[in-house]
Amino acid sequence: MGLVSMGSSVPQIGLDIGTDQVRAAILKPSGSGITLSGYARVPMSIGAVVDGEIVDPPAVTAAIKDLWRQPGIKGKDVIIGVSNQKVVVRLIDLPFMEQAELEGAIQYQAQDYIPIPVEDAILDFQIIGDYMTPADEHMMEVLLVAAQRDMIDSAVSAVQAAGLRLSRIDVTSFAITRAVLSGGSSVLPDSDEEPGEAVAVIHIGSGLTNIAVVEKGIPRFTRVSSLSGNQFTQAVANVLNLTFDEAERLKIESGLPDISGAAPDEPADSEDAQMRQVTQDALEREVNKFIAEVRRSLDYYLTQTTQVRTIRRILMTGSGAQLKNMPAYLEKGLQAEVMLSDPLRFVQVSGSVEAAVAADRMGAAPAIGLALGGVV
Ligand SMILES: Nc1ncnc2c1ncn2[C@@H]1O[C@H](COP(=O)(O)OP(=O)(O)OP(=O)(O)O)[C@@H](O)[C@H]1O
Ligand SMILES: [Mg+2]
Repeated sequence: MGLVSMGSSVPQIGLDIGTDQVRAAILKPSGSGITLSGYARVPMSIGAVVDGEIVDPPAVTAAIKDLWRQPGIKGKDVIIGVSNQKVVVRLIDLPFMEQAELEGAIQYQAQDYIPIPVEDAILDFQIIGDYMTPADEHMMEVLLVAAQRDMIDSAVSAVQAAGLRLSRIDVTSFAITRAVLSGGSSVLPDSDEEPGEAVAVIHIGSGLTNIAVVEKGIPRFTRVSSLSGNQFTQAVANVLNLTFDEAERLKIESGLPDISGAAPDEPADSEDAQMRQVTQDALEREVNKFIAEVRRSLDYYLTQTTQVRTIRRILMTGSGAQLKNMPAYLEKGLQAEVMLSDPLRFVQVSGSVEAAVAADRMGAAPAIGLALGGVV
């Protein structure tokens, strides 16, 4: 997370290795801003990425090679994101020290805060700010990231085996946040944000949901959940005894019921209407579990912070967030303003990639945010 600066002038490639799809976004600094000059996605083989972790590296390598055969995808240095149970992000308070001193001390301090043995972890940190306690102690807030080394190693080798070089590894939820909120600047707060107010960003994919709480453009809390698009589909498949693909189609067609009170557009006794009803009931049950999960995360965050804070707004991205009427359900269940967010908010789109990215607008947030992290 850099300051506002014109960092790199070379194109930056964000590579998002997902459960269903692998995506690449290429960003170039251009006169007045940043331009998306390449975008593509290809399917990932089923079972190669599970719960955000690479379990079949050769299959992932093959998908990446396939992606590099798509029009407009070129370049060797890529930025990837990691997001799974083996990456933890913690906001910690430590006695104030300089950056250089903390670099030496973090190894010894970290174990108190992370569930991964520190000798098996790769650590990174960012000093967010400092403050004085009522007892006049000089303290600082540090965002600590710890990732299990083995998990990072398999991601690195899958990428390298495709003939690419890794220029950076990021936390996926930081990338998503960057795409929809800050455009990469960690000093410009979101203009709608009031002091003491945090914004939540929820990205729903196939296998994972990423939840982040952001204040002044800086993610201060992240969590992953496996309640996501695949689970919604599986619930429909189970209740109607359908194949996953059949259930997927039905899920997308039906979505959740309209809770604004609009009348259904079909007679209630047709067979289609009955299928739709059962589908919507199943989806409603899953979404209620999802809401409870999100509420637990947000409540946890709010109990961890020392100042009084509220989460008034929730921004959603990810292809799974397109489930019909989902924002309205979350709005009701979480008592917050919920809206779909636009991952292309901070970038211009070059003509040649317009069609590719338009078809995958919500799913594009991680790849775009990863590349943004290299540009700014
Ligand atoms: N119109 C739609 N309505 C509801 N769900 C949708 C819609 N379009 C796509 N989805 C769901 O979005 C999910 C795919 O999301 P996405 O492409 O972001 O996942 P991914 O990046 O491959 O996986 P992950 O990030 O979890 O590893 C699938 O569960 C799919 O059913
Ligand atoms: Mg994804």
